[in-house]
Amino acid sequence: MDWGLKNRLSRIIKPETGRTVMLAVDHGYFLGPTSGLEKPGETIKPLLPYADSLMLTRGVLRTSVPAESDTPIVLRVSGGTSILHDDLSNEDITTSMLEAIKLNVSAVAISIFVGSAHEKETLTNLAKLVTQGEEYGIPVLAVTAVGREMTRDAKYLSLCCRIAAELGAHLVKTYYCDDFEKVVETCPVPIVIAGGKKIPEKDALTLAHNAISHGAVGVDMGRNIFQSDNPVGMIQAVRVIVHKSATIDKAYGIYKKVT
Ligand code: 5RP
Repeated sequence: MDWGLKNRLSRIIKPETGRTVMLAVDHGYFLGPTSGLEKPGETIKPLLPYADSLMLTRGVLRTSVPAESDTPIVLRVSGGTSILHDDLSNEDITTSMLEAIKLNVSAVAISIFVGSAHEKETLTNLAKLVTQGEEYGIPVLAVTAVGREMTRDAKYLSLCCRIAAELGAHLVKTYYCDDFEKVVETCPVPIVIAGGKKIPEKDALTLAHNAISHGAVGVDMGRNIFQSDNPVGMIQAVRVIVHKSATIDKAYGIYKKVT
């Protein structure tokens, strides 16, 4: 791996712990003004000090994050669909690598839709992005299994994650599932988990705890942080699980206490 690419990746996965808390606020790219993200700048501001990186689109980056920020950016560069269509898989690459470099990002992110109508295009788009990323030193995060009707079990998620890694993704984002260690063991690159739909805070912390215990290097969590009644407490609670292997009860106490 080239120095630049390795350096950028180390801005996301913290060398001190080998783990990461990524804050995902990219939902609007197909969901529009998602609950909790109606005014992204207001949502992001108090959370920024606690995020190891911020995952978002170029539009929200330009309009809602101060250019002085030193939080590493993971730029979503796939899109082209909306929630109004049943098939979310018809995505293309929406941002050039040159623009990603101009925006000084630490990685780019693209969704792949294994088993969907546009499986081939999303996979070849990932491969093309990796080729460009290797050329310019930008790591690529592959996001798997978003919006799938298919059961998100270890068999399906292993398939998605392994294909992403085989095509060259440097980091993979997927969902936690039973037998998650099988997904991790068969994927040769690090895995972070999405939080998914909002669930009670203790359940979301349990999810993060289970994922870390079974081999994830971190979380790329959105709604379970910014839709919480205490987003700042919640992100700090997630941090102690990810970076300090804290118990669920300890983390929950932090969520309750921090204001
Ligand atoms: C959607 C995404 C989101 O960033 C992802 O789903 C993470 O957010 P959440 O924790 O809310 O599920 O990649 O395409």
